[in-house]
Amino acid sequence: MKGSCVCALLALSVLLGWTGAQQPATTRPDFTCGGDLVGKSGFVGSEGFPNFYKPNSNCTWRITVPEGNIVTLTFRIFDLEAEPQCRYDYLDVFNGHSHSLQKLGRFCGTFRPGNLISTSNTIMLELVSDEATQGRGFVAYYSAVIPYEDEQQTCGGKITKAQGEIMTPNWPNDKYPPGTSCSWLITVEPDMVIHVKFDKFVLEADTYCRFDYVAFYNGGERDDSQLIGKYCGDQAPLPILTSGNVLLVQFVSDLSVTLDGFSAQYTSFPRGSSVPSVESRTSTRTIPSVPVVKLLKIKKLSQPRAQNPLCAKACKRDGTIKTSFCSSEFVITGKISSISPGPRGTVNVAVSLIKVYKSGRLIISQVGETMSVKLVSQCRKCPLLRRGANYIIMGQVDEEGRGTMAPGVFTAPYKAQHHNLLMNINNQPC
Ligand SMILES: *[C@@H]1O[C@H](CO)[C@@H](O)[C@H](O)[C@H]1NC(C)=O
Repeated sequence: MKGSCVCALLALSVLLGWTGAQQPATTRPDFTCGGDLVGKSGFVGSEGFPNFYKPNSNCTWRITVPEGNIVTLTFRIFDLEAEPQCRYDYLDVFNGHSHSLQKLGRFCGTFRPGNLISTSNTIMLELVSDEATQGRGFVAYYSAVIPYEDEQQTCGGKITKAQGEIMTPNWPNDKYPPGTSCSWLITVEPDMVIHVKFDKFVLEADTYCRFDYVAFYNGGERDDSQLIGKYCGDQAPLPILTSGNVLLVQFVSDLSVTLDGFSAQYTSFPRGSSVPSVESRTSTRTIPSVPVVKLLKIKKLSQPRAQNPLCAKACKRDGTIKTSFCSSEFVITGKISSISPGPRGTVNVAVSLIKVYKSGRLIISQVGETMSVKLVSQCRKCPLLRRGANYIIMGQVDEEGRGTMAPGVFTAPYKAQHHNLLMNINNQPC
């Protein structure tokens, strides 16, 4: 961490446009412990940056941009003591100049938070540190934006309709943008509760959902005790039910991997009555009025998954690279760009191609500059593929031109040196 000092400085000079001797020292922002920052745009940073922030500090910055605008906050540098729950050092960002307003996020560690957007012309940052371990702190750029000027970047909002839909930006045409934060505040009539059901769900996967996630809170504040659930990955969460008439939804994406996102429908109904079943219109499911969230959690753990009996066997390849090459209709190398659940326990896999050795009837499509193919795996974990990694993949092709992967199909992590091997096999008769 200490070794990153020079790098961070260098990166900062580039990011902030400091060019050492050519620039008078006075243009260097002077970062203090908190303060009031007023203007169209500027930098906010931890005290003494690029030096480490102080122990036992509590600094509050109140940012105000011109009336009628909203504030966007883009983190340029972020390095705080890491702790999974951010209990020691953390940066809180509030949707306005008060602790009672919605918290847009609590951040720590070295993962740069995604862009944050306030709903008014003010935003507040609070950096709290304990007595031990400090980091280099943070630098963020704030700027005034006219709301809804750029539809692509703006999402979320206040919703008061009894039912509706929420979705990630660009849905369904494109992936959600990196560095986005969207908050939806859904308020329905008093004595009503809100039920949310997901249609599609593909966010960057992570065990702790640290990168991209959507979080649901009972009530209008981002409050851990009111957290209904925080979700990421490619498994759609089970439906969500609030305890009251207000639901806050926050979607955050970081600056790396972006995927399709999610869309969800919400409905409201009187507290204590039954949820109209979404799967079948004729039956209804009675939901008790209080321990609903617990029930849903238990249900999530015990819900049986429709599965092909072949998937229960140990996951082993049926042949060697040579025999599989000959018996397969397609042989490709590529990077797994998405993995999402399909019907009946199958998994849809999209692959950006590196090279095609054999394609048969496999349909190859072009998205921008990348060629890609769609594959269907019969089992969820066999072959076990990881998104973002490169593989050699072989298989058959279905009537729709999609590649299919049976459990014994040949897949292996791909490295550049495998190319010659595959070319050699390709040149030999089967
Ligand atoms: C930091 O200071 C603010 C007031 O400026 C206070 O409301 C907050 O509770 C303090 N946080 C901690 C952790 O001491």
